Amino acid sequence: MKRKLFHLILAATMTIGLLTGCGGNANSSQSTSTSANNAAGGATESNANDGAAAAPENNTADGGVQVGIVLPTKDEPRWLQDQAQFESILGDAGFTNQVLFSQGSSATEKTNVETLISQGIQVLVICAQDGTAAAAAVEEAKDAGVTVIAYDRLITETQAVDYYVTFDSFAVGAAQGQYLVDNAPDGTGIPLYLYAGAATDNNAFIFFEGAWSVLQPKIADGTFVIVNSSEAAALQDKVELSRDEEGKIIGQITTDWDFNVAKSKAEAHLTAAGSDMKGDVLVLAPNDGTSRSIADVFASDKDITSYVITGQDSEKASVQYIIDGKQSMTVFKDTRTLAADSVAMTVSILNGETPATDTTYNNNAKEVPAKQTDIVVVTKDNVKSALIDSEYYDASEFTGLE
Ligand code: GAL
Repeated sequence: MKRKLFHLILAATMTIGLLTGCGGNANSSQSTSTSANNAAGGATESNANDGAAAAPENNTADGGVQVGIVLPTKDEPRWLQDQAQFESILGDAGFTNQVLFSQGSSATEKTNVETLISQGIQVLVICAQDGTAAAAAVEEAKDAGVTVIAYDRLITETQAVDYYVTFDSFAVGAAQGQYLVDNAPDGTGIPLYLYAGAATDNNAFIFFEGAWSVLQPKIADGTFVIVNSSEAAALQDKVELSRDEEGKIIGQITTDWDFNVAKSKAEAHLTAAGSDMKGDVLVLAPNDGTSRSIADVFASDKDITSYVITGQDSEKASVQYIIDGKQSMTVFKDTRTLAADSVAMTVSILNGETPATDTTYNNNAKEVPAKQTDIVVVTKDNVKSALIDSEYYDASEFTGLE
């Protein structure tokens, strides 16, 4: 299927062989690390440099921060996973770095970027709270001579993004949609509840588009019936949606990536739904946090006989929900790889080289060179091989794991 503006445009070229850091969460809102205070037992070889360019020699010592990382919020476990990876891998690679959280505020995000600029950063790795609003912050960084890497979420409407490191977000949504198709009950007229991420996040559009590419034919032929979005129902015969059309649907079914919004929307939808829209149902939930809260609401409705529900991020709590049969699937986005890709790019940039990329994304102002990572679908059947054997999590962190 052809992907449109903001989406994957072309593929090719080189890859970087990378090793990665370890799993686990960290908890501070802000932290500065160097190789000296991060490496257990003193200096270590750089993992991040294996297979990539060597770290530049003038990389520490003057008290400044070389690499600034800005993440959206500490309130979603996903971003704590990313923080842990950055601190581990950047520290091992010998870079001074600081991680700051925007706590859901574009104003805080801008202040964070300004703080990092004043500390002398050469590279900014930023996952935007709001992809459009972040343009002003990265333009300031660019003006200060900083190289800007958009991390996970594309920053739009600006020339001031040098690179983008991301997962294949279309594939995430398509995998969620495909899971619902493959695990739907028999018959037709199966109720389908749709939820999406925040309208300020470009990824939310790509996830939805990926899901729609798989779900739409099943909606159009009457196998599934959309319960909770009149906008989506009105567009059910359209194979490809415009950004505006997606925006109208997402406007109705957004969770804002917030557990509480997801919970109250799910409650309102089930209150409004007639008994013919209950029974065995399907739920497109955009990520793990929202999935758990929507799942709890559906599980407590006596007229819901069974539900199949998607997720994303392989958060620890959702992995337990999957083991317990309360969430059906998640999408594993290995934050070790994404952080390692960003560090490999940083090494190249600080060495004055052009980082390896394998695709571009159009951010509505330019084609941003991007490094894209594949995703893995996780269900009860492969939790162990995908997440435990790969050492992302330890088996002891879960109960009931076979
Ligand atoms: C997206 C990200 C997802 C998920 C979500 C919620 O942009 O790609 O992995 O974490 O935000 O914060």
